[in-house]
This record gives sequence, C-alpha cells and structure tokens, in this order.
Amino acid sequence: MTVQLTIPRPDDWHLHLRDGAMLRAVLPETARDFARAIIMPNLVPPVVTGDQASAYRDRILAALPDGTTFEPLMTLYLTEDTDPADVAAAHASGLVKAVKLYPAGATTNSASGVSDFNKVRPVLEKMAEIGLPLCTHGEVTDSDIDIFDREAVFIDQVLDPIRKATPGLRVVMEHITTKDAAAYVTSQDSDLGATITTHHLIINRNHMLVGGIRPHYYCLPVAKREEHRLALRAAATSGDKRFFLGTDSAPHTDPNKLNTCGCAGCFTAPNTMPLLAHVFDENDALEKLAGFASENGPAFYRLPVNTDTMTLAKQDTAVSFPDKIDTPDGPVTVFDPGFDVFWKVT
Ligand code: DOR
Ligand code: ZN
Repeated sequence: MTVQLTIPRPDDWHLHLRDGAMLRAVLPETARDFARAIIMPNLVPPVVTGDQASAYRDRILAALPDGTTFEPLMTLYLTEDTDPADVAAAHASGLVKAVKLYPAGATTNSASGVSDFNKVRPVLEKMAEIGLPLCTHGEVTDSDIDIFDREAVFIDQVLDPIRKATPGLRVVMEHITTKDAAAYVTSQDSDLGATITTHHLIINRNHMLVGGIRPHYYCLPVAKREEHRLALRAAATSGDKRFFLGTDSAPHTDPNKLNTCGCAGCFTAPNTMPLLAHVFDENDALEKLAGFASENGPAFYRLPVNTDTMTLAKQDTAVSFPDKIDTPDGPVTVFDPGFDVFWKVT
C-alpha cells in the first residue's frame, strides 16, 4: 500500500552552496526540492558586505538549471569590522535576510569570525532595531573546552549574555545538537528559534566512531550522545514553531573528507526530504513534517509559506539514492542514513 503525504513546498533555512564549479554541481540538488534557502556566507573570502552578497546571489541565480525556480536568501558573515550601516542597507533593500555569527576558528572558513563580542555590539544593536535575525554557529572555541561540550558552554557564556544585553535581537541557534540547546529554546520567547539538521536527527556519535571512523558522519557541531539525538527528534516532531529545518548540507570532495585532517560536513541536499519523512514516520509524527520543513521557518523569518506543494510517497520497496555526485573538483558523497528508506519525493 502506498501512503502519501502532501506538504507546502519546503525551504532549507541553513545551506552551504559554495561557489564556482561546486556551486553549479550542488545547486540543482537543492533546487529540485526546496523553494528557498538561507545561504551560508563562509566562502573564501567570506561574504561580508552587501555588495559581496549581491554578487554571490547573482552567481547562484546564474548557476540555476534552466526552468528551475529557487530563491537564495542571502546572509552576511559577521566580522569585527562589519559596518552597521552596510548591514542595514542590505536588509532594507530586501537582499539580506540574516547575519551569520561564526566564533573565530569554530568551523570551516571561520577565521574571519568574531573573537571579541564587544566589537560587534553596534551591529547587533542595529539588527535588533531593524528586526534582522542573527544566525549563530553556537560553539565556543577555547582549546580547554571539550568539543562535545562546546555548544552547551556557548549558550551559557556567549549566547545568553548577548541576548540579555541586546533586547529585541532575533536569534536562530543553527544546527542544534544537544538537549541543552533544545531546552534553552523552549525556555525562551519567540525571538529565539533553532534549526535542526537532517543528519543530527539520524546519527549519534557512536555511528561516527564505533567499529571504525566514518568521516562522512563528521560535521560541526559534532554529533553527540544518543540522549541528545532523541531530544532533537522530540523537538523537531513536537510541533513547536520555534524549531525548523536547516540541513547544513555542506559539500566537501571525498579527498577532502577522507584525509588525515578531514573536513567537517554532511552532504544531505539530495535525500533530505525522504529521510525526514522516514524520521517523522518512525516517530508517528508525519502530520508535523509540514510545520518543521515548510511552515515554521517562514513564520520565524516573517515570509509567506510557499503556495506550491511537495508530495512524498511511501513505497513497499526501499528507494535508492546516488552514493555520490560528480563535480569537476571531485566526487561528493551523499549522506548515507545507514538504514533502508521507503519514502520518495514524487
Ligand atoms: O559541518 C560543518 N560544515 N559545519 C559547519 O559549521 C560548516 C560546514 C562547512 O562549511 O563545511
Ligand atoms: Zn553550516
């Protein structure tokens, strides 16, 4: 028997598209299923100014396959030199939908991020005034803080103080990985939201490390204990409007992943929606998928829900996804959930 689920066309509220040949190779994988995506600005060099975001947006639109509709929602990379007036102008023109905070050194291409949070105070105050959301990579970078604790410590030492010092600042905690983060979100008001990735609903740290190291499961923030994965599942399937999908699909070539110092990132753009249908089905929460993938994100970003739809169907036999996509830079491995999936986008 085929079960079908129709939802408003989803959006991805956290996506890495890269640039050049990689952009052209990965963009169709997202544009096939998603209407819009919040585009991460961690290029080399980063997308810091409104002019740079405008040029990047043009490159994304030029890379779209003919006949595809997809709207990139641009972000600016927050640096200690960011000009509040430039941010405000980029927001007022409609170009920029969020500013991204990377603590310096936290992850891929974050060297230009923030070390001294006092230096970005004028930008944050301007953002609170104009209602422009701040997206946070919520991990501290101190070498003496264990990597598995860095998200929880960030909440206490950085995020909560910033929010208290900047009333009205709207914040998205990106790719949350802990029960601490989920609990912090639910304890706060609607100025705070959080994205959850597909892969953090599926893997815990054992999947990455037991029986051999699996570099394709290595991402940042790193997957945590099973109790945290279960808390993320509970949050995503709860119907709470403050939780929404941000895949953090982050393509790296196999040579860059399968390396003595491998890159962080899971490439989930090609199969995210079937995997999410599997997860929500498993949690008996299929009726909550529309909220998580299609409705809660637009509500937070004060944008309309997409008017077109996506239909997912559950087959009797397992569906298959490509193992990799080929790019001129090398193959990029598609996230393997490690179980059979019976859902597909029709
Ligand atoms: O796993 C990750 N990959 N986490 C990030 O924060 C950055 C991303 C990337 O750009 O590769
Ligand atoms: Zn990311």
